[in-house]
Amino acid sequence: MVVLVTGGAGYIGSHTVVELLKSGYDVVVLDNLSNSSAESLLRVEKITGRKLEFVHADIRERRKLDELFRQYDFSAVIHFAGLKAVGESVAEPLRYYDNNVGGTITLCQAMEAAGVFRLVFSSSATVYGEPEQMPILENFTVGGVTNPYGRSKWIIEQVLEDLSCADPRWSIALLRYFNPVGAHESGMIGEDPDGVPNNLLPYITQVAVGRLQQLSVFGDDYSTKDGTGVRDYIHVCDLASGHVKALDFLENHNGAQVWNLGTGHGYSVLDMVHAFEEVSGCKVDYKIEPRRTGDIGECWSDPSKARRELGWQAQRSLHTMMADAWRWQQQNPHGYEHS
Ligand code: NAD
Ligand code: UD1
Repeated sequence: MVVLVTGGAGYIGSHTVVELLKSGYDVVVLDNLSNSSAESLLRVEKITGRKLEFVHADIRERRKLDELFRQYDFSAVIHFAGLKAVGESVAEPLRYYDNNVGGTITLCQAMEAAGVFRLVFSSSATVYGEPEQMPILENFTVGGVTNPYGRSKWIIEQVLEDLSCADPRWSIALLRYFNPVGAHESGMIGEDPDGVPNNLLPYITQVAVGRLQQLSVFGDDYSTKDGTGVRDYIHVCDLASGHVKALDFLENHNGAQVWNLGTGHGYSVLDMVHAFEEVSGCKVDYKIEPRRTGDIGECWSDPSKARRELGWQAQRSLHTMMADAWRWQQQNPHGYEHS
C-alpha cells in the first residue's frame, strides 16, 4: 500500500515515515521544504534500508497534486504539512490561514477528485485552550484558542468533520498531539528548529551544547507542584507509531474521529531540566522569567481512548526522551545542514 505523507521531511513526519517503511508501507513524501531539509529523508532511507519517493511541492499546488494522484494509487494520506510557530502566526495570520487551512482544503479537493478518502491529520492539544480540569479527554470543549496557529488547527478539524458528514466515504483521524520531544534512537533524525527554538527541550539541549547561553523558565507562579508549567511530553517515535495504528483503524471505519496522543503524565519545566541534567551529565543554566504570553499552567492528556480504540500506548520513558534528544543534538549540533 502506498501512503502520501505531506510534510514528511519535517520533525514528526520523518519519524512517522520510518515507522511506515518499517511496517511495510510504500511512501511518497510531498514537502515544500519551507521548514525542513531533504537530508532528513536520505537519513530515513539509511535507517530503514528502504527507498521512498520525494516530491518537492506545495500542498496548495492543485495541478501538481492532481498529477501525483494520477501517478500513484494512494491508499491514504497522512497530512503533516503546516506552519507551526505560534508567535509568527500572530504576526502573519494570513500566511498561516492560507498555508494551513487553504492548503488542507486544496489537498482534500485533490483527494476527493482522485477518490482517496482516508486521511490522518496532525491536530494539536492547543485546540482545548485552557481546560478547567486535567487530564484532558477528547470530549472536552474545544475552540478556546488564543492565536491564529491554534485557530487554524481548530478550523481544519471542523472542515474535516463537515466533510465526513457530507460524504460517508471519508474516513478521517484527527490526532491531537501533546508535546512531541526526543528523536530516533539512531541519533540520525530529530528536531531541527530554524533559529532560536520556541519549544522547551530543543532550547535545553542547545544550552547544553553551548549554542545558547541560558534557559529562561517562563513563570514559577503557576498552581503546579513547583510553580512552573506542566506538559505531557511524548517521545516522537511513540507519536509516529500512533499514526500507523490510526491508518490501520481507518481501513475499517468511516467518519471523522478524534484521539489524544499523549502519555497521560505531566512534567514541569524544572522536572525536564533535572531529568535532562541527570541523563546528559550537563548542567543547564536557567533563570526564572515572567510567564510567556498565551501560556497555560498545565496540560496533560487522558490517552485511554487511543489505547482502547487504536490499541496504541506510548512506551518510552522521560529518560529515553532525554537520552534520544541529547544523542541527536550531540551528533548534529547544528542540525541537518551543517552536520
Ligand atoms: P515541521 O515544521 O518539522 O514539519 C512540517 C513540514 O511541513 C515541514 O517539512 C515543512 O517544510 C512542510 N510544509 C509546511 N507547509 C507546507 C506546504 N504548504 N506544502 C508542503 N509542505 C509544507 O513540524 P512538525 O513538528 O513535524 O509538525 C508536523 C505537524 O504536526 C504540523 O502540522 C504541526 O502543526 C503539527 N503539530 C506539531 C506539534 C509539535 O510540537 N511539533 C504539536 C502539535 C501539532
Ligand atoms: C507550544 C505552543 C503550542 C504548540 C506546542 C507544541 C505556545 C504558546 N504554544 O506549547 O501551540 O502546540 O508548543 O509545539 O507557544 N518553556 C520555558 N522556556 C522556554 C520554552 C518553554 O520555560 O524557553 C516552558 C513553557 O512555558 C511551557 C513548557 O516549557 O510551560 C513547554 O513549552 P513549549 O515546548 O513551548 O510547549 P507548549 O507551551 O506546550
